[in-house]
Amino acid sequence: MAINLPASLINRSLLTLEDLDNRELEGLVDLAIELKREKAAGTRAPKRLAGRNLAALFEKPSTRTRCAAVVAAADEGACLEYLGKNDIHLGKKESVADTARVLGRMFDGILFRGFAHRTAELLAEFAAVPVWNGLTDDAHPTQILADLMTVRENFGQDKGLKMAYLGDGRNNVCNSLMLGCAKFGLNFVNCCPPELAPEARWIERARRAAQETGVSIEVESDPQTAVRGANVVYTDVWVSMGEEAHFEQRLALLQPYRVDLPLLEATGQLKRDRLVFLHCLPAFHNHQTEITAEIGPPEVTDDVFEAPFSKVFDQAENRMHTIKALMVATLQKPPD
Ligand code: CP
Ligand code: NVA
Repeated sequence: MAINLPASLINRSLLTLEDLDNRELEGLVDLAIELKREKAAGTRAPKRLAGRNLAALFEKPSTRTRCAAVVAAADEGACLEYLGKNDIHLGKKESVADTARVLGRMFDGILFRGFAHRTAELLAEFAAVPVWNGLTDDAHPTQILADLMTVRENFGQDKGLKMAYLGDGRNNVCNSLMLGCAKFGLNFVNCCPPELAPEARWIERARRAAQETGVSIEVESDPQTAVRGANVVYTDVWVSMGEEAHFEQRLALLQPYRVDLPLLEATGQLKRDRLVFLHCLPAFHNHQTEITAEIGPPEVTDDVFEAPFSKVFDQAENRMHTIKALMVATLQKPPD
C-alpha cells in the first residue's frame, strides 16, 4: 500500500503541537489511520525503519506511551532501547546537554517522558536527531495525535464539532488538547474550577492557533454549561504525576467536575448518537470489575467509562499508530 508521508516532517522534533503546522498535523493523523488499516489488513510494506535505533528516555512511569513506542518501532523494524530514570546519568552526573549529544551520536530518534519541559527542549537542541515529547509537566502532544485520530474515526470530516474537557484545566493533557483542537478545527471548552484554570500563555497560544481554523477556545467553570452541544467529552486524572502533594486540594475542588451519565445527557447529543467519551488513561473510575484495585476518587463513573460511546481503548490503541506515524514521518529517508 502506498502511503503518503508528509516530507516536511523529515528530521523534525515534536515538543509541543506548535511544532506542526495544521497541514502536518492532519497529515500525521491521516498517516496513522493508513498505518492502522495496513496493519489490520496484514499488508505491511517493507519495514520503514529497518536499521534505525531509537531511545525511550523516561523519568516518569508509563504503560501506553512506552508500549506504543516499543510496538511501533518493532513493527517498522527499528530497535528501541528503554532508559529509565535510574538507568543513566541524565541531569545528575551529566548535564542534559551532554547526555543529548551522546545519545544523538548513537540513536536516530529519542522519545522523552519527564518532568521539566525544558529538559525536552535541551534534548532537542543538543541531540541533533528528532526528539518526541512523550509527556512533560507542560505538554503531552503525542497523546493528542491519538485523541484527534479517535475523533476522526468517529466523526469523519464533520465540521463544527465541539469538545468539552472537564477537570484539571491546567495540566499537560489539557494544555495540549487546547492547542490540538484549535489547530484541527474543533471548538473547545476547558471546564474547570477557577483555581485550576489554564495559564494565560496556553490560552493565548491556543486562541492564536484557532484564528486560522475559526474555532472557539473557551474557559468555563460550570459543567452543565460547558457540555451543552458537546460531541466529545474528555477528562483526565485529577492529580497528575509529580503533583501528589495536591491530592486533598484537588479532591475538594473537582468533585463537581466528575463525568457521569446525567452530565453527558446535558450534552443533548447522547440520544442522537453524536457523542463520544475520551480519557487519555490511566483513569480512576469505579473499577467494579476489580477485586483489589488501588483506586482513588473517580473522575469518571463506570456507567460512562464502560458505555458503548466510551472510546478510551480505541484511543489507547491509537497511541501506537500515531507514535508510529510520527517515527516514520520524521525518520523517513529524504527523496533522492
Ligand atoms: N496516556 C498515557 O500517556 O498513558 P501512559 O502514562 O500509560 O503512557
Ligand atoms: N495528566 C496526566 C496524564 C497521564 C497520561 C499526568 O501527567 O499524570
